[in-house]
Amino acid sequence: MAQTRLSVDDLVAPLFVADGLDDPRPVPSLPGVVQHTVDSLVTESKRLSALGIPGLILFGLPRPEDKDATGSYALRPDGITQRALVAVRDALGDSLVLIADCCLDEFTDHGHCGVIDPLTGEVDNDATVDLYARLALSQAEAGADVIAPSGMMDGQVAAVRSALDGSGQEQTAILAYAAKYASALYGPFRDAAGVSIAEGGDRKGYQQDFRNRREALVEVALDVAEGADMVMVKPAMSYLDVIADVRAAVEVPVAAYHVSGEYAMVKAAAERGWIDGPGIALEQLTAVKRAGADIILTYFAGEVAEVLGG
Ligand code: PBG
Repeated sequence: MAQTRLSVDDLVAPLFVADGLDDPRPVPSLPGVVQHTVDSLVTESKRLSALGIPGLILFGLPRPEDKDATGSYALRPDGITQRALVAVRDALGDSLVLIADCCLDEFTDHGHCGVIDPLTGEVDNDATVDLYARLALSQAEAGADVIAPSGMMDGQVAAVRSALDGSGQEQTAILAYAAKYASALYGPFRDAAGVSIAEGGDRKGYQQDFRNRREALVEVALDVAEGADMVMVKPAMSYLDVIADVRAAVEVPVAAYHVSGEYAMVKAAAERGWIDGPGIALEQLTAVKRAGADIILTYFAGEVAEVLGG
């Protein structure tokens, strides 16, 4: 009689792969999550695939010395994200959907999601969108099935769609981070990704204000009109109202990202014996699905898949 059933098939696992590592490196604020080498990423991808997980989202991390003001390393055909995509594809064929996070914050030395306009000191929306279009193409050429633009620049979905279509990548889909809030819940991700925003800055200039609910529908409608195949709400647990609104408003699949801070809170409290971690993980992810998400990105993917069975 259950009205909502969480299944392994709903889950996407976020994975980090770092350049220049000899061994996988644990992320202290995300217990159980590591920065992978390309080899360990392939091993983990096989494990997750065998558990029945249908997709991965990959975050490539450059060596600190490869960061610069425009994130130019991100575009290298032999860059870490590109090499990781090729390696996982070679090892697993088409059995896993490979999603590439399309953003520059991992690659810029100032930690913003785009390039900075020297005159205003603000992120230059249009110059950034041009770079996202090139990055998306490079990721698609390396084998990404889905490009996930996550920088919340205006016009990013249209630019990525047109770059892909203009280069024979019509089959590559777009998962738009459509309603992405400027959230304090991304802290552990920034540890995992080695990102710190210069001068104590934040992303409030391009990500959404958490006081705004209806604005999410405006952002989502724009992304769908620009060609998004799927739209995402992020974070998840504090935004169930937004997930429900978006589900009611669009016909495309809705994804929700149960983000690093949401995972870390459960892990930290469970480590202290204060809560039942696995129980809460299952309850939270089921709530995200109940609110209307078709796809859930979560660091719990592997653990929950083990419990649910493939
Ligand atoms: C941007 C990006 C971020 C996350 C996913 N893509 C960080 C940010 O916007 O600051 C956060 C994911 C998480 O917290 O788990 N590349």
